[in-house]
Amino acid sequence: MRIYRVKDYKDMSRKAANIISAQIILKPDCVLGLATGSTPIGTYRQLVEWYNKGDLDFSEVRTVNLDEYKGLTEDNSQSYRNFMNQNLFNQVNIDKKNTYVPNGMAEDDAAECARYSGIIRALGGIDLQLLGLGHNGHIGFNEPNDVFDMEVHCVALTQSTIEANSRLFASADEVPRYAYTMGMKAIMQAKKILIAVSGEDKAEIVKKAFTGEVKPEVPVSILQMHRDVTLIGDEAALSQI
Ligand code: F6R
Repeated sequence: MRIYRVKDYKDMSRKAANIISAQIILKPDCVLGLATGSTPIGTYRQLVEWYNKGDLDFSEVRTVNLDEYKGLTEDNSQSYRNFMNQNLFNQVNIDKKNTYVPNGMAEDDAAECARYSGIIRALGGIDLQLLGLGHNGHIGFNEPNDVFDMEVHCVALTQSTIEANSRLFASADEVPRYAYTMGMKAIMQAKKILIAVSGEDKAEIVKKAFTGEVKPEVPVSILQMHRDVTLIGDEAALSQI
């Protein structure tokens, strides 16, 4: 594992954007696995800036997102599809037909999970997967469990995730209770993984994730078994390792 220890959120964002843009330059039709949340916002902003300068071309890039809340329409301001459109897709020359996010309004969970797995398979897997990290060790919405969930699945969000994500909703009651998420198989089959962390509040889980035992109670710990992981963390998030 490669670790970049950077000063702050801004440096983390620039470094992550550097790696993503290198991937796009090396393979213009690459498949990027993308995340939402607070962590990648600065990274996407930096990519948009470089696109506007003429340094990046997204016209052939394909993307597949980690997850989506169940029950939110694409145009709901809290949906992850909406987040991606606002923060990245609407601002660069990507073809929206080449961007995939689970359908939060699907009626049949099993069918939606099978459909999304089929998309990832048809894309030929992921070249570079960008991840953030939940306080409870989740990646995507792979919540702590007694087994690693390998396939795309519909998951009941834990109380800690609901509380953490309620900051973006009017109240915790409005946070959806379920989400569709990519499982560990697609994440672990990505050729490269880039995980970004920032802030003191992530320091404890970063330590457990990368220096503790590999176990499904700490889902992110599975990354210790991947051969090409880059961790970019600011000083606060890496303060315990
Ligand atoms: C989002 C996702 C989540 C977040 C994690 C950290 O698509 O998959 O695993 O990466 O909850 O969220 P932030 O970045 O808001 O701390």
